[in-house]
Amino acid sequence: MSTEFHTELQTAVEKRRNFAIISHPDAGKTTLTEKLLLYGGAIHEAGAVKARASQRKVTSDWMEMEQQRGISITSTVLQFEYRDRQINLLDTPGHQDFSEDTYRTLAAADNAVMLEDAAKGLEPQTRKLFEVCRMRQIPIFTFFNKLDRPSRTPLELLDEIEQELGLQTYAVNWPIGMGDYFKGVFDRRTQKIHLFERTEHGKKAAKDTAISLGDPRIEELLDKDLYYQLKEDLEVLEGVGPEFDLELIHQGKMTPVFFGSAMTNFGVQLFLDAFLEYALKPGERKSSAGSLKPSYPEFTGFVFKLQANMDPKHRDRVAFVRVCTGKFEKDMTVNHARTGKNVRLSRPQKLFAQDRDVVDVAYPGDVIGLNNPGVFAIGDTIYTGQKVEYEGIPCFSPELFAYLRNPNPSKFKQFHKGVSELREEGAVQIMYSADEAKRDPILAAVGQLQFEVVQFRLLNEYNVETHIEMLPYSVARWVLGGWEALEKVGRLFNSVTVKDNWGRPVLLFKNEWNLQQIQSDHPDLKLSAIAPLGS
Ligand code: G4P
Repeated sequence: MSTEFHTELQTAVEKRRNFAIISHPDAGKTTLTEKLLLYGGAIHEAGAVKARASQRKVTSDWMEMEQQRGISITSTVLQFEYRDRQINLLDTPGHQDFSEDTYRTLAAADNAVMLEDAAKGLEPQTRKLFEVCRMRQIPIFTFFNKLDRPSRTPLELLDEIEQELGLQTYAVNWPIGMGDYFKGVFDRRTQKIHLFERTEHGKKAAKDTAISLGDPRIEELLDKDLYYQLKEDLEVLEGVGPEFDLELIHQGKMTPVFFGSAMTNFGVQLFLDAFLEYALKPGERKSSAGSLKPSYPEFTGFVFKLQANMDPKHRDRVAFVRVCTGKFEKDMTVNHARTGKNVRLSRPQKLFAQDRDVVDVAYPGDVIGLNNPGVFAIGDTIYTGQKVEYEGIPCFSPELFAYLRNPNPSKFKQFHKGVSELREEGAVQIMYSADEAKRDPILAAVGQLQFEVVQFRLLNEYNVETHIEMLPYSVARWVLGGWEALEKVGRLFNSVTVKDNWGRPVLLFKNEWNLQQIQSDHPDLKLSAIAPLGS
């Protein structure tokens, strides 16, 4: 590799930071995303990104959501420059029925931002997504939002994270008041108080006055009670809180915590500045050829998401590829590890809200959208040079199960082709009964809307009408050690055994309670909520 190319790669990697936001619906992800774009200069006035919040409410009809949003309810990638850094925000679906997409997006993210509503604290969807981040051991930044409304106390919120997630917290900033009395935050990095002024609907960046703790103006700018409360809180923090430890943050064991209000822009810029300082740059990844550094000169990447356009006039599919090493160039020809075929990557796209720009080059940490004429499946690796295969993307425990039936035997072929392609695309997981006589595929999903998508697409793209028969299970666990391990424990009650797409045993349970019962009856039986990688 020429030194010039090496420097080019190094510079690009140094510059890049990517992240995804994990949150429960309504915590303010859309609002925060928009405000980050505002501060990043990617938009000039909040509201420019199409009002997705209002579309999100049409939960009853996913097609309608799809049409309104133009491209898809699934993720896009937002890229913007801020203080000489290039930030890639891997946007995740707002609707929790599509959280499988969020799980996969997290596989492509180097950092995560855990967004919580400060009045509610930890919520179910956030807990689930947190577990995925923990598995990947990526840095997690916490942003408590909506401090402009009555909230739980900051110490209580930190305690919840420590106790329930077992994650150490380090408050990088601290709120001054809350609700109508939310005046600003104290930044522990610079030891400055930032007082904000609200702007009309938070359209523009908030006016920010920064003063030191000892500044005599404090008395007139800040209510006495708020000032004493702040001093008291800071004493507690300094006294019992842990020391800042960047190493622990990078290992995902300590979370830097921020308080603010995305709607009024309070604390957003301080968060962004600290994020840039602490976030991990694109790093090494495990592959069949060992751990590969981003500066490995050959291009490699993996598909973490496929997205189909529902508009029948533009029925294109886009494969989202996370660039891991080397440099991507438009029209380059790469190898496709799973099939061994050569693929020319023409018309690569970069997605920003609804506009698709063509990308000429991309570097590690970037995401590119490739037109996918049925070539790519979730987890596929593409590469130049010697053969490389990344670890793949795990499947997570589905929560809804249903038989999918094809009432028309003459449509047998189309039905199976459709089911298999939709599985590869990651629209749904497929399982089969362990009883050979029951051949109908079992759809396994995280959200009900996934079923609707599958049925709709089978009808529209494969011309097959199908019936769904719901099954009464809500928990799935893969049996580690396979069929052999399962045989050893003998007959199990209150669970049913099915096979995943690769013929591996999976136990389905009606509820968590039944699962716990089996675990306590058979402590040797090792079960996993995440499918083992590979086939
Ligand atoms: P989501 O993507 O996480 O689902 O949340 P979204 O940003 O759509 O925000 C959910 C609701 O919370 C919105 O109100 C939004 O305005 C509000 N919100 C977001 N950040 C803040 C904040 O910092 N403070 C306060 N007080 N509210 C916030 P909505 O009434 O559902 O929609 P809209 O009519 O305001 O658009």
